[in-house]
Formats: sequence, structure tokens, C-alpha cells
Amino acid sequence: MQKVLCVFGTRPDAIKMAPVVLELLRRPAHFDLKVAVTGQHRQMLDQVLSAFEIVPDFDLNIMTQGQTLAQVTTRSLNGLDPILAAEKPDWVLAQGDTTTTFVAALAAFYHGAKFGHVEAGLRTGNPRDPFPEEMNRLLTTRLATLHFPPTPEAAANLKADGVGDAAIVLSGNTVIDALLEVAAKPYVPIDPILTEILSDPRPMLLVTTHRRENWGEPMGRIGVAVRQIVDAFPEVVAVVPWHLNPLVRAALTPSLAGHPRIKLIEPQEYVPFVKLEQKSTLILTDSGGVQEEAPSLGKPVLVARETTERPEGIAAGTAKLVGTDTALIVAEASHLLADPEAYAVMARAVSPYGDGHAAQRIADALEKPPT
Ligand code: UD1
Ligand code: UDP
Repeated sequence: MQKVLCVFGTRPDAIKMAPVVLELLRRPAHFDLKVAVTGQHRQMLDQVLSAFEIVPDFDLNIMTQGQTLAQVTTRSLNGLDPILAAEKPDWVLAQGDTTTTFVAALAAFYHGAKFGHVEAGLRTGNPRDPFPEEMNRLLTTRLATLHFPPTPEAAANLKADGVGDAAIVLSGNTVIDALLEVAAKPYVPIDPILTEILSDPRPMLLVTTHRRENWGEPMGRIGVAVRQIVDAFPEVVAVVPWHLNPLVRAALTPSLAGHPRIKLIEPQEYVPFVKLEQKSTLILTDSGGVQEEAPSLGKPVLVARETTERPEGIAAGTAKLVGTDTALIVAEASHLLADPEAYAVMARAVSPYGDGHAAQRIADALEKPPT
């Protein structure tokens, strides 16, 4: 019997850890599981907890408006410290590259617990881009005992960093586990705005943006691009579930507010958001998770970033890196909206990030970890 503490804090952490939590719960003979959330996100975390019906054993509730990285780091570390001291888990598990994840790995190290890194090995090669996520990844790799890369490319990155083969378990990305389960389910919206959007026959551009390195002017340029696309294509509707960060809203409001075909809506729960992805014609995003989901759904995705640690979608031809230059975003989106052949080339369903069984592989590996 292994004592496991799963730690997460933000929306994507929760979506990607939910399949792992649920899989470990299905194996009570092998795992004594506890869940600790830092609450780095509050509302956007709670949306995921309720969607997957996960009730945390510990909730540090650390979020404050406009929190700094140092505040998230120190509050999470101080909050996890007594939990690890009392629970003495064999394993701490966390996913990806958020500050919650790095801190969970550090807290595990301080307490002599083994750390299992879900979604390990993603790299851009630039320690400051994405900031601070690339550094969080590097530091988390150093602290981890067992690494669960989603793809062969991510496994190769770990080997290049000196991680031994025995500590690497190629698992696929757990986001695809979550996505496939939700995408197959029927869904009837309750919110009238969503009912209208999901039944609108017009082509839909789905937009999300939140990355720290896009705050300010780059995000402003993304907003202007969306407006120009909608103005150039009178049949297109843009749907923008905007992040709760006030800096995101400040950057997008001047270009996007008040347009009849630009729907600025609140962050969506996971199930309706996946339905929006399925309904969309084209996705413009700087999100990591959305980049991973779009190819599986056969949706072309334009990535509004200068670098990506997810080259697999680009190699598969379903994602394109477009940065934050307004003219380039408008040109690429216009090409896809106006040319059915170009659109068909990108709108192929491929699954470079996983097959929906990542959590099972992770649980299998934890049942028999390397000695
Ligand atoms: C964080 C992660 C980022 C991840 C993103 C997912 C770090 C350093 N950043 O960035 O890697 O891609 O989450 O969305 O770990 N807010 C709310 N309610 C919420 C969530 C956020 O009001 O439910 C507001 C608060 O004012 C908060 C601010 O957004 O201070 C920023 O949240 P924070 O977690 O610090 O940064 P993100 O940009 O969300
Ligand atoms: N997502 C969601 N509701 C939304 C927007 C996104 O549930 O309104 C989901 C999306 O499907 C993906 C994840 O949130 O699984 C991505 O989170 P985010 O973009 O905040 O962070 P990142 O993946 O960039 O770290």
C-alpha cells in the first residue's frame, strides 16, 4: 500500500490531475490517497473540482488578487509543510509547470517523499519563456523521482537532461484522458448565452489567452487581431472565455468589448469549454492545454506565442505558431477561413499527446515503482 498525496492548484493542474486522482481511487488495495489543493486559482479551480466531483482533503486557499510569484511560492510551501509532516506520504504527485507544481516537488524533497512528475519533460529551451514555467519544469525535473512524459519528444528531453531510463514512464498526457471522457458525453447547456453560442450555425473563432509573457501589449495585439478577423469576415463569431486575471481583461477590453459578434464570456467549466472547442471552426490560443486538446478534436489551432514546448501538434500539421503580431495572426486566420483546402489540411483529428489511458499507465507504474 502506497501513501500518495496529489497536489494541484490551478485550472490546468486540476484538469490534468483529475484522471490520476480518479484512477488511484479505483485502486484502494494499492493506494491510500489524499488530495491537497493550494488554491493558487480559486474560482477556476473550484469549477474543475466540481466537474470531476473531487473533494480535497486539504485546501490551502492561498489565492489573492494580483498575487506575485513569490507570494504563490511561499504561501504554498508554508501550507504544504505541515501537511507533509503529518501525512508522511510515500509519493507526492503533481503535474506540469505551475508554481504549485514546483513547490509540491520542493516540499516532497524537504520531507523525504518521492515525487512523481506528471507531464514531465516539456521544454522550449529558453529558461525565461514561458516565464516562469520553463524554470519550474527544469527545477521540478531535478527534484523528481519518477517522470511521466506525455510524448517520446518529452522523454528524449528528460534523457538529454540526464534522467535515467528506469525513472521515465512514457504515459501520454492525462489531459487527453479528461478530454475524451468529456467530449463523448451529451451536454445540454443551462446558461442561455451558451445555448445561443452552441446552436449558432455561423463559423466560430474560439479564443483564449492568459500567458504572463503576453500580458500588456502582446495581448492587446491579439485582441486587435480578433477584432480585425471578425470585421473582415461578417459571418464569423468570436467566442472569448476570458481568464479572471484583471490584467487579461484590461488588455482585451479596448479591442473586444461591445462588438455584436465578439462574445466575451466568463471562464467556462470544463464540460462546456470542451463543447465550445468541438463547436469551433478555428482556435486561437496561448494555452498549453488547449494546444493539446485541439488536434484530438480535429480543430486547427493558431498558437499566439513566440515559442512552444508542444512541437508535436506543429509537426502533425494541425497547429501553427503565429506569435502576437496582429498582421500575422489576421493573415493566418483569414487564410484558413477563406480557403477550404488550406482549412482541410489543418483540420485533421490526430492525437500526438495521448490515447486516453495515461492515468492507468501512471497508476500501474506507481504500483511497481523502480527500486
Ligand atoms: C497560472 C500559472 C500558469 C498557468 C495558468 C493557467 C504559474 C506561475 N502560472 O497563471 O502556468 O498556465 O495559471 O490558467 O503557476 N484569478 C482569479 N481567480 C481564479 C484564477 C485567477 O481571480 O480562479 C486572478 C487573480 O487575480 C490572480 C491572477 O488571476 O492573482 C493570476 O493568477 P496566477 O495563478 O498567479 O497566474 P495565472 O496567470 O493564472
Ligand atoms: N479551459 C476551461 N475553461 C475555459 C478555458 C479553458 O475548462 O474557459 C480548459 C481547457 O480545456 C484546458 C485547460 O483549461 O484543458 C487549459 O488551462 P489554461 O489555458 O488556463 O492553462 P494552460 O494549459 O495554458 O497552463
